[in-house]
Amino acid sequence: MYICLEGIDGSGKSTQILLLEKWLSDYGYEVLRIFEPTNSSTGKLIREILKDPRATNDNFQKTLALLFAADRMVLMDTIEAAEEAGKAIISDRCFYSSIAYQNPQGVQNSKQRLDSDASWLYELNKFIKKPDMVILLDLDVEKAISRCDGSDSFENKVFLEKIRNRYLELAKTNDFFVINANNGINKIHEDIKKAVSPKIGRCI
Ligand code: ADP
Ligand code: TYD
Repeated sequence: MYICLEGIDGSGKSTQILLLEKWLSDYGYEVLRIFEPTNSSTGKLIREILKDPRATNDNFQKTLALLFAADRMVLMDTIEAAEEAGKAIISDRCFYSSIAYQNPQGVQNSKQRLDSDASWLYELNKFIKKPDMVILLDLDVEKAISRCDGSDSFENKVFLEKIRNRYLELAKTNDFFVINANNGINKIHEDIKKAVSPKIGRCI
């Protein structure tokens, strides 16, 4: 089972992943926890670029799309080995982050447009393993920003409003579980458990 948590910056992914990992471990699952951008040299380069005020510009975003795809590819051996070992994999972001963030022309309320604009991103990520389940933590942008440290250029209201809308569009067409992340940490964890339980054949 490969589960990915997605959401805008500050949506609570890291917090919920630790709780989900503990819950699955308590059930006896061996868990592999991964995150993107990774700690590889490409991941480190990405984190530097994200601090640049120009990071939301079209050409920077295209460069980032290439780097994110390369960084993600590095994870594939680890994911395959974990799957063979029967581990549960929990990922903080996956290629859907690129579809949401690196897609400057994407518009809401139009699947056709969104997909056609994102076609090169899908192509770029075509060798990337898709998660079995995506959980989208959805919350108000202002609340999300108040939880961020402001160090990255993406952490601004106008940009993140667009990304949030793109995630909600993607959720409809890709069967994501959308969870209200405006709630408290424990309530969100309960909602995540409810979503994951049937997938792993467990009661909560
Ligand atoms: P992400 O990994 O999506 O950026 P984090 O899990 O790091 O988000 O959370 C960002 C900040 O918000 C952290 O300080 C965390 O403690 C806090 N936080 C996470 N979930 C909630 C919540 N449901 N309510 C209030 N604060 C939260
Ligand atoms: P992350 O460290 O997960 O930040 P946060 O914990 O604040 O959500 O990700 C760093 C940034 O990278 C975040 O702004 C989202 C962005 N990102 C992309 O733009 N495309 C991608 O493909 C990925 C994986 C992340």
